[in-house]
Amino acid sequence: MRHLITLEDWKPEAIHEMLVLAARIKDHPKDYADAMRRMTLLMIFEKPSLRTRVSFETGATQMGGHAIFYDLANSPLSSGKENIQDLIRVVCRYADIIMGRLFEQEHIEEMARLSSVPVINALTNYEHPCQILADLQTIREKKGALEGLKLAYLGDGNNNVTHSLMFGCAKTGMSISVGCPPGAEYMPQEAVLASSQAIAAEQGGSIEITSDAAVAVRDADVVYTDSWMSYHIPQHKSEARVKVFTPYQVNAALMQQAKPDAVFMNCLPAVRGYEQTAEVIDGPQSVVFDQAENRLHIQKAIMLTLLGVTGG
Ligand code: CP
Ligand code: NVA
Repeated sequence: MRHLITLEDWKPEAIHEMLVLAARIKDHPKDYADAMRRMTLLMIFEKPSLRTRVSFETGATQMGGHAIFYDLANSPLSSGKENIQDLIRVVCRYADIIMGRLFEQEHIEEMARLSSVPVINALTNYEHPCQILADLQTIREKKGALEGLKLAYLGDGNNNVTHSLMFGCAKTGMSISVGCPPGAEYMPQEAVLASSQAIAAEQGGSIEITSDAAVAVRDADVVYTDSWMSYHIPQHKSEARVKVFTPYQVNAALMQQAKPDAVFMNCLPAVRGYEQTAEVIDGPQSVVFDQAENRLHIQKAIMLTLLGVTGG
């Protein structure tokens, strides 16, 4: 049985196949109108969401299935009456496929271990694989291929999206340069760095971490940023974080140091004036809404792949 918990354990060929399937589904959505007929997707949420919730639910509906939104805040788990092990052992008896947006990576891993049906990581503090597969689909559409491209990531390095980008770029032969403040609080986690560097060495890409934003964006084909205040970061840290991340803001001057045809990406939600200026996110190089749209197509591909229903 396959799950999508981390991009680290997905083979490059499997990622490629998923991207090809997503492109086909995007071009021919009607061919997949019954691919999830009478199947149920259970969506377990411990954090807020716009894109993930709406794109997964719409995706299941468009393929003839049904999605259930389950809010953990309103569950026996949150009041301490039930544990996560019992929760997953119960719901896998009902649903055909399960996704979870949780705080702890260990909890989604535990769900995958105990579930009799496929489990999808829809974001933890540590990784966001569905987002990065949608991003790779978007870059492939804009640039024609992935191998050999350079992606510059600016801002919070100790971050789910950053970690998954490091795995995703490494697996596809891209190079990634992370421009982030020095110090363990803001840099990618050691385990991700070591593993993604090993994968990049095999696939012909590279992983660079720098505290110099200009170095990170030099010759970049893609400039990417993410929230300075991720869902799990307490509000009282806001002022200090704005100060520490401001040198990594993606503004017009920084974009000019990337390749002239570089695209700008942000997984959203975004705050104009924080991680990027309005002129960048609302400007001609921005592809953020194509990126958001591709969540729908790639997640259909993810669900069908995990369910073993790939024919359209
Ligand atoms: N990019 C993303 O996952 O957005 P949501 O938090 O709105 O789901
Ligand atoms: N790093 C962000 C991603 C949001 C989709 C967060 O965790 O809030």
